[in-house]
Amino acid sequence: MERTFMMVKPDGVQRNLIGEVISRFELKGYTLVGSKVLHITKELAEKHYSEHKDRPFFQKLVSFITSGPVFAMVWEGDEIIAESRRMIGKTNPKEADLGTIRGDFGLQTSKNLIHGSDSVESAKREIALFFDDSEIVSYEKDNLKWI
Ligand code: RTP
Ligand code: MG
Repeated sequence: MERTFMMVKPDGVQRNLIGEVISRFELKGYTLVGSKVLHITKELAEKHYSEHKDRPFFQKLVSFITSGPVFAMVWEGDEIIAESRRMIGKTNPKEADLGTIRGDFGLQTSKNLIHGSDSVESAKREIALFFDDSEIVSYEKDNLKWI
């Protein structure tokens, strides 16, 4: 079992996609173990996207991700880190396959609706950045044997 961090970005929240996103991962067979709505501070945004700090789009990215509330989530499941990235789709929504979240709902790289951790290390780091241990619940669903 793996855990990953995902976040509906400000554009996804404004476009009422929180429910759609939760639904897709629930129906796939994954378990939501933590979630909250929050308005990210500039400091948290810069830490979260620190790997991109020298890229030309960094300031625009920080300003976008702090422009409105986000919906932060911790999900759990079998190989969820790679599989959730597949369900999210490519960074540029115009290149993302239909059937993925970005492919179905997005048009621009700068407004690509959702973030997902890209490795075990980044998942661990991002979960710790956004959540206290006390905000994450460990439980096993009874339907796990059917998935
Ligand atoms: P994310 O971290 O948000 O889940 O997105 P990602 O892994 O698919 O893409 P990443 O390379 O980590 O880039 C982070 C976010 O920066 C914006 N971006 N803009 N050339 C550009 O203008 C450019 N490249 C990336 C995107 O919003 C991307 O989600
Ligand atoms: Mg990324």
